[in-house]
Amino acid sequence: MTNKKKKSFVAVIDSGVGGLSVVPALRAVLPRENFVYFGDAGNAPYGEKTVEEVRETVDGIANAMIKDGAKAIVLACNTATSAAASYLREKYKDVPIIGMEPALKPAAEAKEHPRVLVMATPLTIREDKLHALAERLAGEADFVLIPCHGLVESVERGEVGGDKVKRLVADILSPHLDGADSIVLGCTHYAHLRGVIEEVAPGVAIFDGAEGTARETKGRLVEAGIAKRCGKGSLTLKNSSPDPEYAALSFRLLERLN
Ligand code: DGL
Repeated sequence: MTNKKKKSFVAVIDSGVGGLSVVPALRAVLPRENFVYFGDAGNAPYGEKTVEEVRETVDGIANAMIKDGAKAIVLACNTATSAAASYLREKYKDVPIIGMEPALKPAAEAKEHPRVLVMATPLTIREDKLHALAERLAGEADFVLIPCHGLVESVERGEVGGDKVKRLVADILSPHLDGADSIVLGCTHYAHLRGVIEEVAPGVAIFDGAEGTARETKGRLVEAGIAKRCGKGSLTLKNSSPDPEYAALSFRLLERLN
């Protein structure tokens, strides 16, 4: 007998309910997998913190989940990916760490030299990762990087429709909409605002990174020989919010996505 726990689930981490927008894509490509989702709502928003703060917080969650039996970690959060993915990959070498890749490439390829608005948190916009990607694709599209203050907080309050959040989205996007061909959602929370964004920017194509991340997760699990091959999959939701209503918000948002 050994005391070593059987590694049995894929951890999905976000600062709150944002990463739930990646869960349907993950479950679609890996229907047999057991997913444990952790929303760090007690510490949201990550995007207004320093890189060091986010790295430390996410490392604490990843560490606890690996000890609990996580066989892979999906950072379903662009901000956590920018701040902590490389660090975690270095620290937990035998656990695949999959991050979000903002969908700049699919947006750039959808049309001849489009004008692409990239919505992301202030931290993601500040960090090198996004700038490097935009520079790599600079010959194919014009990218406008837009830090979106306040949107994560709205989604965390459950405001994913209605006039107040629509006004906020309009204030952020309106100065850039002239000639815009597409919008990249560079924060997983914004996928919950897709309907509002479509109202504010009618006819502008919207891209997010959920399916790319799900495909990458499947590839990494298969490559490492740790994908679950039989049985039914499951989803467990956990969060760090002291608010008892928070679980209900998570279920409501998941339902809207299905
Ligand atoms: N869902 C996170 C992301 O994708 C939001 C970060 C935050 O809490 O500000 O960037």
